[in-house]
Amino acid sequence: MNKYYLMAPGPVSVNPHVMLTMAEPIIHHRSPQFSAILTEVREHLKFLYQTQNDVLIFASSGTGGMEACVANIMNPGDKAICIVGGKFGERWAELCDTYGAEHVDIEVQWGEAVDPARVKEALDAHPDAKAVFVQAHETSTGVKHPLKELGELVKQRENTVLVVDAISAMGVYDIKTDEWGLDLVVTGAQKSLSLPPGLAMVSVSNKAWRMAEEIKGPRYYFNFLKERKAIGKQTTAYTPAVSLIIGLGEVLKGFREIGLEKLFAHHRLLSGATRAAVQAMGLEVFARTPSEAITVIKAPEGVNGQDVVAILRDEFGIQIAGGQAHLKGKIFRISHIGHLSQWDMIIAIAAIERALNRLGFKVDYGQGVAAAQEFFAANQG
Ligand SMILES: Cc1ncc(COP(=O)(O)O)c(C=O)c1O
Repeated sequence: MNKYYLMAPGPVSVNPHVMLTMAEPIIHHRSPQFSAILTEVREHLKFLYQTQNDVLIFASSGTGGMEACVANIMNPGDKAICIVGGKFGERWAELCDTYGAEHVDIEVQWGEAVDPARVKEALDAHPDAKAVFVQAHETSTGVKHPLKELGELVKQRENTVLVVDAISAMGVYDIKTDEWGLDLVVTGAQKSLSLPPGLAMVSVSNKAWRMAEEIKGPRYYFNFLKERKAIGKQTTAYTPAVSLIIGLGEVLKGFREIGLEKLFAHHRLLSGATRAAVQAMGLEVFARTPSEAITVIKAPEGVNGQDVVAILRDEFGIQIAGGQAHLKGKIFRISHIGHLSQWDMIIAIAAIERALNRLGFKVDYGQGVAAAQEFFAANQG
């Protein structure tokens, strides 16, 4: 009897209008009709990324885009600096291991953002580091890393690139790819782009292209050079995810119509109201520098965060996310990305009030909801 609400940080709920666009009969990927769509989507992506760089599109999950970055700039034995402050930072280090690259890890306590001074120190100590790998938003902790400051540090170094996993961040808040000097920026379909899973996108700066041209290690599908050649012919190197690209075109057209600032304001509104509710319920936000993509809530004393997730999912029909690795049971995460409105946040907050009471943590019904309502009313009228 439950209605299903998807409020996890990926996959996210998709606008039914976009789903219908993707249900249209498949068209051939080497046709002029598809080339026209692809060319338009590539232009829209540049708008979203705030870049003049090429944005490559792969048929894979976001991790494929991350792997493509490592495969195209790191030769075996090359050195990288990885910022590791969560599950996805660890993935950069694992990918470096996979491709035989050496990596110096800057370990950051989960829930905290990296201090740019530590990155500067690492860059000074390792001037031969070819890349700094970081997340824009570390989805496992809800933390936003200081991209602009990192860009300043890396920009000045001719032989080092900044590689950003913006899989859950691009389109959520301001990320100025060119102005901030972000060399490789990865996104994925099923997060901030509000699509089903299956696409990874990577923007490539001139500095990064130079590195990609000198790679000696193995790469086949994820070869940037083959994709660049295909862009010149208004196509992709291999069969693209036709329906998803058509859906992406629809999503990005919508983003362009409303404009980036309004898009960012939408996420500020949903996250701001949720945080007001968290505070009103006597709970705490986990991240020190929280992103607008998700709110990560510390499970209160005596409550297992996984139980909150299970009650919402199995009894109320609301899918949020729990913690990963050592944070399992200690946190729960509510998404603000995907096809969601302020009313969905009210539903999630009301459900959390119920679940917490069930688990023995006393919250007056309406305590969190009222704070969110106040926030929405004050910020939206
Ligand atoms: C920041 C970040 N990086 C990487 C990934 C991995 O993406 P995928 O699961 O699409 O491979 C995720 C997914 O949660 C993510 O949030």
